[in-house]
Amino acid sequence: MMAGSGIFRRKAIALPEAKQQLARTLSWPHLVALGVGAIVGTGILTLIGVGADRAGPAVILSFAIAGGICACAALAYAEMATMMPVSGSAYTYSYAVLGEVIAWVVGWSLLAEYTLVVATVAVGWSGYANGFLLGLGVHLPEALTHGPALVDGHISQWGINVPALVIVALVAGLLTLGTRESATINAVLVVVKMIALAVFVVVALPYFDTANLTPFSPFGFAKAMSPDGVERGVMAAAAIIFFAFYGFDAISTAAEEAKNPGRDLAIGIVGSMLACIVIYMVVAIAAVGALPFTRFGSSPEPLALILRELGRPGVAAFLAGSAVIALPTVILAFLYGQSRIFFVMARDRLLPEGLAKVSRRGTPVRITVFTALLVMIFAGVLPIDAIAALANAGTLTAFVAVAVCMLVMRRRAPDMARPFRTPAAWLVGAGAILGCLYLFVSLPTRTQLWFLGWNLVGLAVYFLYARRRVA
Ligand code: ALA
Repeated sequence: MMAGSGIFRRKAIALPEAKQQLARTLSWPHLVALGVGAIVGTGILTLIGVGADRAGPAVILSFAIAGGICACAALAYAEMATMMPVSGSAYTYSYAVLGEVIAWVVGWSLLAEYTLVVATVAVGWSGYANGFLLGLGVHLPEALTHGPALVDGHISQWGINVPALVIVALVAGLLTLGTRESATINAVLVVVKMIALAVFVVVALPYFDTANLTPFSPFGFAKAMSPDGVERGVMAAAAIIFFAFYGFDAISTAAEEAKNPGRDLAIGIVGSMLACIVIYMVVAIAAVGALPFTRFGSSPEPLALILRELGRPGVAAFLAGSAVIALPTVILAFLYGQSRIFFVMARDRLLPEGLAKVSRRGTPVRITVFTALLVMIFAGVLPIDAIAALANAGTLTAFVAVAVCMLVMRRRAPDMARPFRTPAAWLVGAGAILGCLYLFVSLPTRTQLWFLGWNLVGLAVYFLYARRRVA
């Protein structure tokens, strides 16, 4: 059933027909584990170095700013996800509240986000895996450990990131076996990741030296071009560090598979978000306090490097090994989310319906395989900071849309049942919208242009293909 008309028609939320329904197998501990599993990953393990390079010790502030904005967005997500407990997250809410063309832009942005997050984490995993293998005396051929290397915008060395391809293929295989099995393995690996970060903090914190924090903010607050052609500042770092905080939205894509969506989703989203803010602040303080940021800023494995510099190579190897074992949980959560967005858009006929076919195990196998192949192309050849920034652009778009949906629904349907109500909704909603917009303008200018191009292509697909199929 539709309301409104033309490209602004809105879709009534109804649970899908039985033959297209996903199995309800997840309860809240699975969802918190899915959330923390999706949130803690390459952001804190690898991009903390990029953040320190962009902001200096003030990267601590960047973490606080990005975390605060994400917390606002998480609350909006929790309200929308419990009001509309069906698959598709920001795309589905936008279709029901803001109209089809906005939903298309959001869905198209989410496809970019999920694909690029999986690629980013696979490349980050490859960095730690290569370091770990080197420690064991295993040397992979250099050209098979990373994508083409760029110097001044030109390819200086060809290569393909084979470990990144392998890990994506393995995780995709796991997902096609079934959601419940995957979520349980995920929960075990989340614990491994938490122990590794706790060990890092316990070892690094005693080396805290206030001298490492001065000057605290060498590149200023707002994004500004440095002489070496890199845009820096506390906000430029926050716009990259933002990557470390999202993932809770992957929980909302699991809404159709939650046993008790009203309660389980709110606990899953808000609980995992708050836990991660606390963990990151502690890790960031321990990292920049232990070593001058210039010594780990450009490392592909900054936390392991800090530990080695502190004279603790054994602990560094433990951390790298944990990253190798546990980072696939992030890949799993986002690959899962990606296949569900595809699934829902195909079910709405905006993408080819053949993709929405569910296997006997209740998982959309075709989409999972298709997505994995797409991810492998990106992960094989692209550098990590560029993919992460582009993933952030897609995510910020989705977050703004969800916060707008929450505020519009507060006006349009104030009495509708809300299993979870965001406190101070107008303040939180405005915080999410304005904060995400500020982060977006703080992204590298080149990223903004790429993202604009991606959405122009998307709109062409919408007007030439998708719109006619639904009409
Ligand atoms: N937040 C996730 C990570 O840091 C995407 O890897």
